[in-house]
Amino acid sequence: MGVLVLLFTVASLLLLAESKTFWEDTQVLKQLKNRLDPNSVAQGSCISSWDFKLDPCDSLFSDRFTCGFRCDLVDDSGVSRVTEIGLDQAGYSGSSLSSLTWNLPYLETLDLSGNFFSGSLPESFSNLTRLRRLILSGNSFSGSIPASIGSLTNLEELFLDNNYLRGSIPPSLNNLVSLNRLEIQANSLSGEFPKLDSLTSLYYLDAGNNAITGQVPFTFPPSLIQISIRNNSLVGTVPETIKQLGSLQVLDLSHNQLGDSVPAHLFSHPSLQQLTLSFNKFSSLQTPSSAGFQSQLIAVDLSNNNLQGFLPSFMALMPKLSALSLENNKFTGMIPTQYAFKVAVPGTGVSPFVRLLLGGNYLYGPLPGPLLSMKPGSANVGLGNNCLYRCPRVFFFCQGGDQKSSSECRSFVPVIP
Ligand SMILES: *[C@@H]1O[C@H](CO)[C@@H](O)[C@H](O)[C@H]1NC(C)=O
Ligand SMILES: *[C@@H]1O[C@H](CO)[C@@H](O)[C@H](O)[C@H]1NC(C)=O
Repeated sequence: MGVLVLLFTVASLLLLAESKTFWEDTQVLKQLKNRLDPNSVAQGSCISSWDFKLDPCDSLFSDRFTCGFRCDLVDDSGVSRVTEIGLDQAGYSGSSLSSLTWNLPYLETLDLSGNFFSGSLPESFSNLTRLRRLILSGNSFSGSIPASIGSLTNLEELFLDNNYLRGSIPPSLNNLVSLNRLEIQANSLSGEFPKLDSLTSLYYLDAGNNAITGQVPFTFPPSLIQISIRNNSLVGTVPETIKQLGSLQVLDLSHNQLGDSVPAHLFSHPSLQQLTLSFNKFSSLQTPSSAGFQSQLIAVDLSNNNLQGFLPSFMALMPKLSALSLENNKFTGMIPTQYAFKVAVPGTGVSPFVRLLLGGNYLYGPLPGPLLSMKPGSANVGLGNNCLYRCPRVFFFCQGGDQKSSSECRSFVPVIP
């Protein structure tokens, strides 16, 4: 008995001396290397140096294992586990990562971004329960986002952007309670945007350049600072619940099918700085009861909608607003003097307009006096393609597009002389 125990101890010591990496972790690394298209593994590259005649974790940064992963001792067994894989931007290609068994229970970071990996996302990712960062941006992954990704409850960053993912965004993402960054832009994701109100640490959400339908979600995590769902197929308007997002600074819902009025609550929002609703179908604009005095908005882009009526004079009263684009709408009437003052001679404590783009509307009448004294380069002002007959090209802001013909102007606004 004693001899057996002794033999066993000697054997395990020998094993330890020979291998420092947990054997299953080594298997995954081997599989990963084998799965790559050999043509994409450049000589002298990190993966080409992987030589499994040696122990990976024990030979890190030797000439046999120059890079690509990190190992850590996770307990006092003396065995190292792979905790990080970083094969980003190396140009690797190889299909069917999907059938690879990602069984690395101690992995915290997996970064395969900027390669040419294709196939569907492996279900076995769901075994990586300690994963904090999953970065698969800029590959050719296709198929749908597996619902099982919702079991990665330690995930803080999920980057699936710039792939060919299809289908709907799985509601199970709402289980990723540690998530603070979600980037799924530039895929072909469709269906309605799911409820993600459990993600109480999420501050950055980009779902732009997809094919998402339905309404703008009613509930968002209150921690969000930046939301982009630009270039999708959203309909309806911007829900009032947005005003409860007390940290929100950037909202980009441009290039959708949103319509009706641009709601007043956006202009009295307590934290919003940048509002981009261009290329939608808004036809009117509500005036906030506070006249925008408390607004934190710095940049507003409502260009390329269907907005009608006079230019909203309250915009000139928003103290921090310095970039306003209302181009390519159907605004009419005269340019408010308040706008001209805010560009040319702003009052104290008020940010001047450094960008004021009003081209492509039906504005008419004389140019407000303060504009006429402005020097080229002092601000980016555009008034082209309106009905401003006395807008000679000597003024830099009258360049960039002829005024509309008088017949076009009169057919839209009969009062124009
Ligand atoms: C997860 O790991 C176990 C082994 O621990 C394996 O049997 C199973 O197939 C893995 N799951 C997936 C989806 O690959
Ligand atoms: C909208 O998204 C599609 C698909 O990703 C892309 O091809 C197109 O260029 C995008 N359009 C804009 C205006 O960003």
